Amino acid sequence: MAFVSSKRIEAIVDMAENCRTIADIGTDHGFISKRLLEEGKTENIIATDISAPSLRKAENLLRDSVFSCRIVFRVGNGLQVISPGEADGIVIAGMGGQLILKILGASPEVVGKADWMIISPQKNIYDVRRMLPDLGLHIEKERIVEEDRRFYDHMFIRNGASEPYSEEELLTGRLSLTEDRDAFMKMAAHRIRSLERILKKVTDGDDRISVARELSIWKKVYTEE
Ligand SMILES: C[S@@+](CC[C@H](N)C(=O)[O-])C[C@H]1O[C@@H](n2cnc3c(N)ncnc32)[C@H](O)[C@@H]1O
Repeated sequence: MAFVSSKRIEAIVDMAENCRTIADIGTDHGFISKRLLEEGKTENIIATDISAPSLRKAENLLRDSVFSCRIVFRVGNGLQVISPGEADGIVIAGMGGQLILKILGASPEVVGKADWMIISPQKNIYDVRRMLPDLGLHIEKERIVEEDRRFYDHMFIRNGASEPYSEEELLTGRLSLTEDRDAFMKMAAHRIRSLERILKKVTDGDDRISVARELSIWKKVYTEE
């Protein structure tokens, strides 16, 4: 597969802090690993995937490159193929929020020894914000990236507690931690439009109440800005 970067990937690379070893969990094609190495964000990468055929794509991309001696490839589930202290940075992108929470929750020793993590849940973002404190983690910053008419939410997280999130903040994120306000506002406007469309179609009373409530929260952050 030919190498392709993207705004989504570049934002992850940009958010990564310089470190010794990054674990790229669910690397698939290996594009994030390649860009992290190219940008000098890390000395070494451990690129993992639960699927051997997926990992082979990353191996094909990087095995014979100038980075070959700085990357190792491991097949396995989540962080179970990483030893505690082995990775100071962890990237988990392109998966659902529940799966990301499961991966983090299953390996507390690895998570506890990491300096930072970047997660990019593709759905269930509310649940991710709600559950991170239970895993002893907090969001330090968030960045919304728009690509191909989709919005991606990258979260830079660390070990340690944070102020509890309000119900509104669980839904929209905490505005003070949002790095690109313009992208955030574009996403808020998009969310408002789609909730308004949904509201016109929903007939069930309880569903209407919850959609209307969500809509009013998004309108509030949009107009307060
Ligand atoms: C959509 S790709 C994302 C690739 C890359 N991380 C990105 O964001 O561009 C998701 C990858 O995660 C892998 N994956 C799914 N569940 C996993 C798990 N529990 N542990 C490791 N990898 C997993 C899949 O095999 C797939 O290659």
